[in-house]
Amino acid sequence: MRLKFLPSFVKRRGRITKNQEDNLKFLSDYSIKDICEINEIALDYSSCCLEIGFGNAEHIYLQAKENPDILFLGSEVYLSGIGTLIGLIKDNNIMNIKIFPDDIRILLDKNENMEVFDAVKIICPDPWPKERHHKRRLINKSFLELLHKSMKSKANLYISTDWENYADHIKKEINKTGLFNKSNIFFTKKNHLTKFEQRGVNEGRRVFEFNFNKED
Ligand SMILES: C[S@@+](CC[C@H](N)C(=O)[O-])C[C@H]1O[C@@H](n2cnc3c(N)ncnc32)[C@H](O)[C@@H]1O
Repeated sequence: MRLKFLPSFVKRRGRITKNQEDNLKFLSDYSIKDICEINEIALDYSSCCLEIGFGNAEHIYLQAKENPDILFLGSEVYLSGIGTLIGLIKDNNIMNIKIFPDDIRILLDKNENMEVFDAVKIICPDPWPKERHHKRRLINKSFLELLHKSMKSKANLYISTDWENYADHIKKEINKTGLFNKSNIFFTKKNHLTKFEQRGVNEGRRVFEFNFNKED
């Protein structure tokens, strides 16, 4: 199964602090293993939002805190980020976050026909700026088609990137699918830049935002 997809991420482990390591011992309290499980939990909430590649977890944590009626599923392969998120959930008694601690394509690929997500957010996917690495970019036509299957009718898709070349690529790949319409309505308010968006701005790049709805 793992060989089905080229890795779209740079590192899985990185440097892990003692706190993050301790928090990771509680992973099973928050993790889900498949789409049926998140679908079942989502019944207790007004809607369900997937954030892919939550990084240092700041955005998903703030979103969950500000929107307690929404269930958030965070997906990340980076163990230190997962450890940080578990710490934030535990310390702040957050009830509405679940974690898929692996490549999101593994979860989506196993979904036959369940439309679960009201929104999907992908903030600064790894840019893979070198041309020979473009094939590793997470956003491409086949990934968008995979994602589309798990999204509800009219569900929102938000993507941002601070790399102009990736922004052009995203536009092209979305158009190729013919499965999404541009939208001005954002699922939730995003009040601050994430770590990677801020880094891009600090390095003189701008943040490109894409907001779509699933076409029926
Ligand atoms: C450039 S970082 C952005 C992190 C965060 N969204 C931000 O804006 O600060 C991209 C993140 O996506 C994660 N990622 C990449 N491919 C992924 C995949 N297939 N499934 C889940 N997470 C993935 C990486 O591990 C990394 O933490």
